[in-house]
Amino acid sequence: MRYGGNYSKFEDMRAEQMELQQNAFAKQQDKIAHLQKFIARFKAKASKAKQAQSRVKALDRMERIAPLLADADFSFEFKEPANLPNPMLSMQGVSFGYPPPEDSPPGTPPTVIVQKVNRSVLAGQRIGILGANGQGKSTVVKTIARALKPVSGDITEGKGLNIGYFAQQELDVLRPADTPLEHMIRLVKDLTAAGKIAGQATREQDLRSFLGTFNFGGDMVKQAVGSMSGGEKARLVLCMIVWQRPNLLLLDEPTNHLDLATREALSMALNEFEGTVMLVSHDRALLRAVCDEFWMVSRGGVSPFDGDLDDYQRYLLDESKRLREEAKAADAIAGKSTNANTKNTQKVSQSQKPTGGAPKSKSSKRELELLEARMSTVNTEGAALEARLAASPAPSEIAEIGKRLKLINDEIKTLEDQWLELSTRVEAETL
Ligand SMILES: Nc1ncnc2c1ncn2[C@@H]1O[C@H](COP(=O)(O)OP(=O)(O)OP(=O)(O)O)[C@@H](O)[C@H]1O
Ligand SMILES: [Mg+2]
Repeated sequence: MRYGGNYSKFEDMRAEQMELQQNAFAKQQDKIAHLQKFIARFKAKASKAKQAQSRVKALDRMERIAPLLADADFSFEFKEPANLPNPMLSMQGVSFGYPPPEDSPPGTPPTVIVQKVNRSVLAGQRIGILGANGQGKSTVVKTIARALKPVSGDITEGKGLNIGYFAQQELDVLRPADTPLEHMIRLVKDLTAAGKIAGQATREQDLRSFLGTFNFGGDMVKQAVGSMSGGEKARLVLCMIVWQRPNLLLLDEPTNHLDLATREALSMALNEFEGTVMLVSHDRALLRAVCDEFWMVSRGGVSPFDGDLDDYQRYLLDESKRLREEAKAADAIAGKSTNANTKNTQKVSQSQKPTGGAPKSKSSKRELELLEARMSTVNTEGAALEARLAASPAPSEIAEIGKRLKLINDEIKTLEDQWLELSTRVEAETL
């Protein structure tokens, strides 16, 4: 330990305080997002316009909690890329997928996930990659990162392309027994061997101070990575990416393990980054902050997505419905069919079991309908109470109405939270 007892106690308290504030901030941000979402939803329906109005007011009234300034705690920036090839890369008739497993009989075809993509990635583009689970986002990104070969077609890379890749399973590539310092030393060795950093000798001290800028100070540079938290590992991976000074960043779910401060720092760093970003994320706030165009990976293809992220939310819901119906239709066919050998029918017959996807989705859908019905009833009562309040009731009544209104509003909030959670779950149950 570097600090005396009192100091570290002070640090602990400060950390605790920061966490409290950050939690309060995060909670409020959730609430704001929640209100905004419902304002948007309710505005569309004339019958709910009044409800939307009261939400707009609630939003205006809200006293905003300041975010913990991420840079007071932790911030970083990507280095200016040495060059920006344009295009960064272009894909001609590229199919993405996986080679057959080694033990499969000769002649087994590869598994194709996404087919015949013709697209270019240009300097400075900020592309958000969207798509439901399992549609092939990671497969595409992994292939562009050269961690997987295209099944067919060509990817032409711009001269000087330098990719920084944060894989969805990135944390697995760290070596648990090694320390952050050892990871950096190995990285420098690999880059030197690949001819990417010529001549300049890197001193251990430089690596230590670089790690320091990613909050790996003092003892931590010597701590085995295996004993670190998911967030710390993700931070180390970011540190290693930044060191490489990439001009194309491929980030596949980078925030899954990150704490709020690091997420904020990443979002800010990405905003300043001058190279190209391709980002896969379920974190809509991050997508919104970083990306200005979207690609949709779905039904075996990649297409531009013109809508905004709310359209995307609706798309996911529609898509989950479509997939469920498809599964149901396939179910019916599989029920009649005697041939259960293909991959598809196997998948489908699983969902016929009581624990499978289809029946669960069905009941979730019913649950959603019930929730919506209850929301409508409660909203009507809330509106009626508000109308009574607005009509200057007797003082004795005010307290009673107020009490009831509070209960109603609590219930609305709970119902809406349940609705949001359930609709997200229904969306996740698609596969
Ligand atoms: N090694 C593999 N061999 C064969 N198929 C695979 C392999 N790895 C993944 N797949 C399949 O490829 C499809 C696409 O997977 P991928 O991980 O690219 O989806 P994704 O869009 O990134 O999903 P998520 O949102 O869950 O991360 C899935 O059906 C998956 O089962
Ligand atoms: Mg993925």
